[in-house]
Amino acid sequence: MDQTMEKKKVMLSGIQPSGDLHLGNYLGAVRNWVKIADDYDCFYFMADLHSITVRQNPADLRRRSVSQLAQYIACGLDPQKNTLFIQSHVHEHAELGWILNCYTMFGELSRMTQFKDKSAKHAENINGGLFTYPALMAADILLYQSDFIPVGEDQKQHCELTRDIAVRFNNLYGPTFTVPEPYIPQVGARIMSLSNPSSKMSKSDPAGCVFIMDPPEEIARKFKRAITDSDTERCVRYDPENKPGVSNLMSIYSSVTGLSFDEIERDFEGKGYGVFKPAVGDAVVEALRPIREDAARYLADKEYLRSVYADGAARASAIARKTLRKVYKRIGLVEKPF
Ligand code: TRP
Repeated sequence: MDQTMEKKKVMLSGIQPSGDLHLGNYLGAVRNWVKIADDYDCFYFMADLHSITVRQNPADLRRRSVSQLAQYIACGLDPQKNTLFIQSHVHEHAELGWILNCYTMFGELSRMTQFKDKSAKHAENINGGLFTYPALMAADILLYQSDFIPVGEDQKQHCELTRDIAVRFNNLYGPTFTVPEPYIPQVGARIMSLSNPSSKMSKSDPAGCVFIMDPPEEIARKFKRAITDSDTERCVRYDPENKPGVSNLMSIYSSVTGLSFDEIERDFEGKGYGVFKPAVGDAVVEALRPIREDAARYLADKEYLRSVYADGAARASAIARKTLRKVYKRIGLVEKPF
């Protein structure tokens, strides 16, 4: 078959609207998604139905779902090339989620480490949704016959379970779902916290986390205060084992400037951390400036954002509907006469 006629593979990921995007999300994931937009048929959605497994302030949830969309577009995710939508706008997610609940075992759900972590953290609200969350996630993925799921380490177990559910269903009823695979990007930096370089940058550790919407002064301040290493040589050298702090700063600097570690070492030879840290801060400020400005512009244009998520939901629904209809038929539900 002609290469250009081949159907593109489907890539899908959900993002919980639980906070602003940070540098780790951008350099580790979103920037790569921008690059692959032409090679795959890409779906990204705000997983608002997942967010409510933990108690949310309704006004905040609503605002963040839209604000995150603005930030993704500002990072370069083109709504023409990617299907961007809000999960709750495509009701098939909730419907297939229920069905897959009936094909997911109590034992499997009990083994999910995220459930164990979250129920320890929210002991006052261990609800059924928190427990059956992976069945909804499986529905998100399987509705679009996704081939690849770009997720981090923390979601691998859920992806594995999704595969198991898909295989189980296909074995019972014949081929219905594409069995997805986790997608590991060839490039994509793993960005660590500025205050604790042994853990991933995360919004739960705000001092070590640079948000893409942070004002320049704030970004500069966070980099000046970044933890460096207590070794005596205090030179800029890439050595993640012994110098995790400086190596993390080098990864960030390399990601935003395109310079190799060798080039960075050469440029900063004889200069200490006191020179390097503000230089990284400046480079990040400049890299994020256009993104922050674009995001602010989109945020001020609610009509535009509305048109993006309306269009995204329409495109997503058209596909989701087909899969759900097939599933209903396979399991023995009577076809709707209207
Ligand atoms: N569970 C994911 C997270 O917490 C979010 C998510 C929901 C997701 N549905 C998905 C990710 C489908 C990938 C595919 O980060």
